[in-house]
Amino acid sequence: MNAPAGELAPHLADDLGIDTTMTTAMATETTLLNPRFYTTDFEELDRVDVSSVRADWDKLIAQMASDPNKGHFKKNADWDQIDWAGMEPTLRREFIDFLVSSCTAEFSGCVLYKEMKRRGSNPDICELFNYMARDEARHAGFINDALREAGVAVNLGFLTRAKKYTYFRPKFIYYATYLSEKIGYARYITIFRHLEANPDQRFHPIFKWFREWCNDEFSHGEAFALLMRTDPKLTSSFANKLWIRFFLTAVYSTMYVRDHARPAFHQALGVDIEWYDQEVFRKTSAIARQVFPIEIDIDHPRWLPNLRRMRDAFGQMDAGTRRGGFAGWAQRMVGGAKAAYGFAAIYTIPVIKTTPPVNVRLEPSY
Ligand SMILES: [Fe+2]
Ligand SMILES: [Fe+2]
Repeated sequence: MNAPAGELAPHLADDLGIDTTMTTAMATETTLLNPRFYTTDFEELDRVDVSSVRADWDKLIAQMASDPNKGHFKKNADWDQIDWAGMEPTLRREFIDFLVSSCTAEFSGCVLYKEMKRRGSNPDICELFNYMARDEARHAGFINDALREAGVAVNLGFLTRAKKYTYFRPKFIYYATYLSEKIGYARYITIFRHLEANPDQRFHPIFKWFREWCNDEFSHGEAFALLMRTDPKLTSSFANKLWIRFFLTAVYSTMYVRDHARPAFHQALGVDIEWYDQEVFRKTSAIARQVFPIEIDIDHPRWLPNLRRMRDAFGQMDAGTRRGGFAGWAQRMVGGAKAAYGFAAIYTIPVIKTTPPVNVRLEPSY
């Protein structure tokens, strides 16, 4: 049984010097790097006709309807008790930050998918978004349970009301959400496989749940791949290819910068951040060949140096914010210019061109 929120937890939260208000504020904050909440043109999305991908669509929906992970997101005997108060403070702070940002990202999917289900009238679209919202609600709830044990659960109801929503046209939702589902799969499975080989580095039980978990993300990504296939222009026109390139650059570089802000967390897992990120990019890019006709060359000599430049630039901007005053402002401006330079240097790396296969569907294989 979970400890009811607010019973044992507050004492622990006091010891940790952090509380629910703080984690909710962390989740609510809108910055360039934090997970966002999205809204879109639900009517346009509702008009999507999936008949051109019907056979694959029905198979995917049947798989989601069978609900393979129905009983998965429950604590059982594998859930070891964690001594939160005894955890090394830097690790604890970074781990809580990791959980809060993962919970926000999962919940962001839940809110968007549920809203589509609520507003739509197209049975295909409503059914899909209903299943995806169900999965994301479980994912966010499970992470929040882990946070609750430390007395710092995110107030998800408050978050829904207080968080700023970013509007994206449906096609941008496809690119961004497809990538974040597939990158989510790649992140979870890479950590799971690493800890399977190095169980002594598994410092929290939640990682044991990642394998089945990432299969949900994989299917969600498949759904967006099929949605994109319903309109070939989305992945073939010149302008859209530039957009895909933009989203690849933005999603990958954001992940790199954010992961590097958690050195103690990755050290505790025994993971070299740069290795881990490259591994995740490699898997995501290999999967994304199913729909995207281009991929970023992550072995290009400009790739890593400019990611590092962006990481340093964001560090500089943070320091500027903490410093305040004119000097802080100047530091932020210099950091911003440096980050923009890094982004442009990556965006202009010649892309690798590929030909998406006729048959779009994939199964998880890592
Ligand atoms: Fe999820
Ligand atoms: Fe997902």
